[in-house]
Amino acid sequence: MLRVHDLDAFYDRTQVLHAINLKVDEREIVGLVGANGAGKSSTLLSIVGIKTRTHGEVWLDDERIDHLPAYDRVRRALVLIPERRRLFPFMTVLENLELGAYLPVPRQQRGETLDRVLELLPVLAERRHQVAGSLSGGEQQMCAIGRALMSCPRILMLDEPTEGLAPLYVERLFELVVRLRDSGLTILLVEQNVEHVLEIADRGYVLENGRIVLEDTGRALLQDPRLKTAYLGL
Ligand SMILES: Nc1ncnc2c1ncn2[C@@H]1O[C@H](COP(=O)(O)OP(=O)(O)O)[C@@H](O)[C@H]1O
Ligand SMILES: [Mg+2]
Repeated sequence: MLRVHDLDAFYDRTQVLHAINLKVDEREIVGLVGANGAGKSSTLLSIVGIKTRTHGEVWLDDERIDHLPAYDRVRRALVLIPERRRLFPFMTVLENLELGAYLPVPRQQRGETLDRVLELLPVLAERRHQVAGSLSGGEQQMCAIGRALMSCPRILMLDEPTEGLAPLYVERLFELVVRLRDSGLTILLVEQNVEHVLEIADRGYVLENGRIVLEDTGRALLQDPRLKTAYLGL
């Protein structure tokens, strides 16, 4: 469904990604892991077309999209939840959710989508009239996911969604990602929480210094001695 071919990415003249090749099939959870500064966020930003300058190809289904501006990629239902979530703190949960449905197609069906999102994330239903800034970190991440779901994504990319969350919410978040995949979404998940993400991922990629150094099924990567020494501290 999503295919990245020989992707290089630059900030000004500094190259941060080198010949990245990856794919995400329909209804897969793909994990992208690696140390701080490895290039995980840059990979997601390059796929959605913001901040970086790129060479190489990004394909969505049978269409090459790397020349498209970011808003045209969002229109194709390729949606990124960036690091640190970026809600509008003085707006209510409901207002934040409604902002997710600003494009014409999602807007037409926003009532039904909202019902589904509130059913999937009951905490948002409880808190719907509270301003987003008053929610806990975990609730804010749920709100950010809810807002992204309001835009009716086909591929959802999440950048370190569990960062700074209490353990209970980390658990809930991974469960939610699995439920989203089971309901038909395709997911590319960037995580520091290496062991946890590989437990739920169908496949995974390991990035090091802007290069993919390992790729396999989540289960095989968990057993890989190179990954164990580098990231799992075993
Ligand atoms: N806006 C930017 N301008 C210049 N360099 C950046 C910028 N953002 C990230 N970098 C650099 O790109 C490299 C990859 O960073 P990033 O993609 O954020 O890694 P990760 O998400 O894996 O921590 C790092 O060396 C980082 O310092
Ligand atoms: Mg990052």
